[in-house]
Amino acid sequence: MADPTPATREDLTSDPSAIGIWRHRTLLPPSRHTVTLGEGETALLPLSVSTAPPGVKIHAKLESLNPTLSFKDRGMAVASSWALDLGMRGLMLASTGNAAVSASAYAAAAGMECRIFCGTESRAHQKLAAAAAHGAQVRLVDGDYSAAYAAAVGAESDGWFNVTTTYRNPALAEAYRTIAVEIFEQLGRVPGVVIVPVGAGPLLRAVLAGFSDLVTAGLAHSVPRMIGVQALACAPLAHAWSQDNWRLALAEAVPVSPTLAGAIADSLRGYEREGLLTLSAVKESRGTVVAVDEDSILAATHELARRGLLVEPAAAAALAALGLVGVRDVISDAHESQAHDVVLLLTGHGAKEPSATPTFEVPDGKRS
Ligand SMILES: Cc1ncc(COP(=O)(O)O)c(C=O)c1O
Repeated sequence: MADPTPATREDLTSDPSAIGIWRHRTLLPPSRHTVTLGEGETALLPLSVSTAPPGVKIHAKLESLNPTLSFKDRGMAVASSWALDLGMRGLMLASTGNAAVSASAYAAAAGMECRIFCGTESRAHQKLAAAAAHGAQVRLVDGDYSAAYAAAVGAESDGWFNVTTTYRNPALAEAYRTIAVEIFEQLGRVPGVVIVPVGAGPLLRAVLAGFSDLVTAGLAHSVPRMIGVQALACAPLAHAWSQDNWRLALAEAVPVSPTLAGAIADSLRGYEREGLLTLSAVKESRGTVVAVDEDSILAATHELARRGLLVEPAAAAALAALGLVGVRDVISDAHESQAHDVVLLLTGHGAKEPSATPTFEVPDGKRS
């Protein structure tokens, strides 16, 4: 991702005639085309949860309400607009599932082709079915997301825009900065803490960059503490964060096992150094990186569903993290100097991830 370009007050003023992320067009990489499915301007809701620390207000940013039900749509709108400018034939990418659905929908909207590489271990059948419905060519790669990443890089060729949503394509991350500006507009201030489910972490780093834009423009005085959350089953960043030498820690292979939060299961194998970008952003914001176990991810998914918010387990990991001591310490620290608001980024909807929603059997006799 490119370093944040200094923003001015004018840059952050929204254009009332545009919709969604395009209201903040000056924050986005310039493009002649505008491909949109109505992404951005997602709701920010107050959330009452049992694990909220006393005196702290929890808010949920519903990125699950984007057109293909994840935050990836912000990035794909910009990337597909760019691809049209560049006269590309299509989009190509490695994905754990959400980026696949998003890229295929935006490629379809732009009249382009789309090629997807997905690891068999991502178990993203439902998401891939949606991608295929949008006309994408799906290739399953034996192994995990890192294996799919390597396959996508190996297949890069002229005319195909690689929109793999790690740090590989900066256009996507630039678009995620709009999340920070929206939160600021919706709350009327910068929150003390933002909790973000992380794979490699470009989302977290871009959201911090968006808050830094507000500071540069003189609209805010400080950035929030950023908390990155991984599934314990695949947590290279949380592991490295707890070590003195990040570089060495990231180079070690961490044990990986299957997780309900498949969308954030990224072992970083082959591009370990990208993890340093994420860890540095977290450090700069005086936040932390944590890992949550499968039971707490499942409990958080169900708790949100019982409050009317159907999100996928990877997104619910943000709520699961609220119960951890390390997270509560960062929140109480922020509490002393910043606003009492904690924002959870609910990054993806549950409708595409049926594995974590309780099954409902229609009684046999009543089926016909
Ligand atoms: C639902 C969900 N949350 C969070 C993330 C993490 O994004 P990043 O790779 O930018 O850390 C992803 C990435 O695929 C995702 O699908």
